Order: sequence, then C-alpha cells, then structure tokens
Amino acid sequence: MIFKKLNSFIFLIVIFFHTEIYAKEINIYSHRQPFLINPFLEIFTNETGIKTNVIYSKKGLVQRLQSEGENSPADVILTVDIGRLYIYEDKNLLAKIDSNILEKNVPSHLKSSNNTWFALSKRSRVIVVDKDRVNKDEILRIEDLADPKWKGRICSRPGSHVYNRALMASIIAEHGEVEAEKWANGLVKNLARRPQGNDRAQVKSIYEGECDIAIINNYYFGKLKYSEDPKQREWIKNLLLIFPNQGINDRGAHINISGGGVAKYSKNKESAIALLEFLTSPDAQKLYGEINFEYPVNSRVSSTKELISWGEFKEDRLPIIKIAELAPNAQKIIDRVGW
Ligand SMILES: [Fe+2]
Repeated sequence: MIFKKLNSFIFLIVIFFHTEIYAKEINIYSHRQPFLINPFLEIFTNETGIKTNVIYSKKGLVQRLQSEGENSPADVILTVDIGRLYIYEDKNLLAKIDSNILEKNVPSHLKSSNNTWFALSKRSRVIVVDKDRVNKDEILRIEDLADPKWKGRICSRPGSHVYNRALMASIIAEHGEVEAEKWANGLVKNLARRPQGNDRAQVKSIYEGECDIAIINNYYFGKLKYSEDPKQREWIKNLLLIFPNQGINDRGAHINISGGGVAKYSKNKESAIALLEFLTSPDAQKLYGEINFEYPVNSRVSSTKELISWGEFKEDRLPIIKIAELAPNAQKIIDRVGW
C-alpha cells in the first residue's frame, strides 16, 4: 500500500517536472515552406503535446531575429542550405545545444563544431541530361561540364543562387581557386543561353530542346515526376539523372543540407531541442524522403524506395561548414566568369 502511494507520488513529481521543463508551445522561424514542415509538426505535437507556431518567410528572418534581440519570441530556426544556416551562427543568433540524441543522429561532418546547428536532411546536386542526345558515359564528373565539346548545350540557373554557389565552393575545396575558376569559365562558355530561371526551368529547357544538359537538386526530379501538372510529368520522361564523381578514387557527388538550430534567446530551449531531436529520429527522417525526396542524415535510416530507384551513390563527405566558409570566394569567381 505504502509502495503504491509512493509510486503515484513519484509519478506526479515526474509529470510536474516534465511539464515544467517542456514548454507547451514553441515558435519556429522557418525558411522552409509550410507544406514541407507541417506534416512533421503535426506528428511532433501529437507525440509530445508541444504546440508549434510557424513564421514562414523566404527572406528577412535573420534581420528580424537581430532586431528583436533578447525579446525575440523565436525558439527554433529551420532553413535550407548551409550558407543560410551559417549566417545565423556567424551573427551569433544560435544557442549551443547539449543533446546526446543529436550527437548520435547527425554525423560530425554535417553539424556545427560548436553544436549550434545540425543538418536535418540532405540533397544532392546532380546532372540531368536528355537520354537520346547525351550518352550516359560521356559525363561522369561535374568537371566534365567544362569540356569544350559541350559548347552551347548546357542550361543553368544563375551561379549566384545559393545552390550553385555551394557547388562552386565544393569545387574550390577540391581543386583550389585557380583550377576552380578555369572550370567555371569553361562551364559558362558551354551555356546555351544566359543563366536564368530556377532548377525546374532548366529541365523544361531540356524538354523543349534548348539545351541537353543541366544541373539540378535531386528532389526536383521527384517533384516533376509526381507533379499534379501533366506537362511537368512529361518534362522528365526522357531525362537521365547522373550522380557525378562516383569513380573509386573520386570524392562523390556534392551534397547540401537542410538544417536547424535553437534561437539564442529562446525561452523554451528544452522544447526547441526536443523538436530538433524529433526531426532526426527514424520516423521523421523517413518522412523527408516521402514528402520532398530528400535523403536522411541519420545513418541508421535508409532512403525511400523511390530515391533508391534513382540510383545509390557516394556523397562528398567534405565537412559541410567548408562550403559556407568558401562561399564568398565562390561568389567572386562566379562574378568574374559571369555565371
Ligand atoms: Fe529548392
């Protein structure tokens, strides 16, 4: 009897401290579109009882956080691209996170050495070609795109977009600035038209015959394949996806990340960390593939069947922070060659 009473007393204490530690509600500043993160947040709220409010904006969240300072209501920051994530760290807007779960779930080359940000998903920048106009063995490396034989046959979005700037940074990391600039020059000379449009627009241009080769993020292939617009589904029918740099001694395909951190002045840090931990859990990691054709960062989770069907590949394991550090140099090269 005494034990029973003692047990329920301990249970009440546990509940009391649990609700004390975990705030009932957290605010998320997100560069990720609501349709991408809402399915995750629904499950998180169901599992933990922690409600989430999302402030979504494509631009201006860094400035907003800076001007709000210590009074900011932000708890969690979610964004895509290491370049953007790094700006938060660089401006001292993120809190240090102490979490064994995040340590275990996120490999060391995909997180901040200060534990201020963690990757949550991966995407690869891949080459797509028209199957009939380009032989699949003719392009094996990203470096091959600078070969003069492709003159007038490549389409690209502007080099200064974060996706291309990150790719450029990865080439500097591999070859140094001089060789990287030669590559960028060669690529620009091979362009079929002035750099323009987004990744999807490049695929459309291949479909329309304006060019034969483009560089896109892998998930756009999935978005087009399963698009509600039948025209977009047509665009990829004759498309071949190439993961570059797969040779035995080669570095692997360039990858980038989506990621997150806890706002420096969050009043609800435990709950904010709980969300990041949830996003790296096996169930959530699977969901990144199902919703947006992205790859898991948690090595104990496998990609979806759909992603595996596009080809398994070796990824460049360069510490992702290098991409952010080299981004300003990458941008200078991009400006000089007019990409
Ligand atoms: Fe994108």
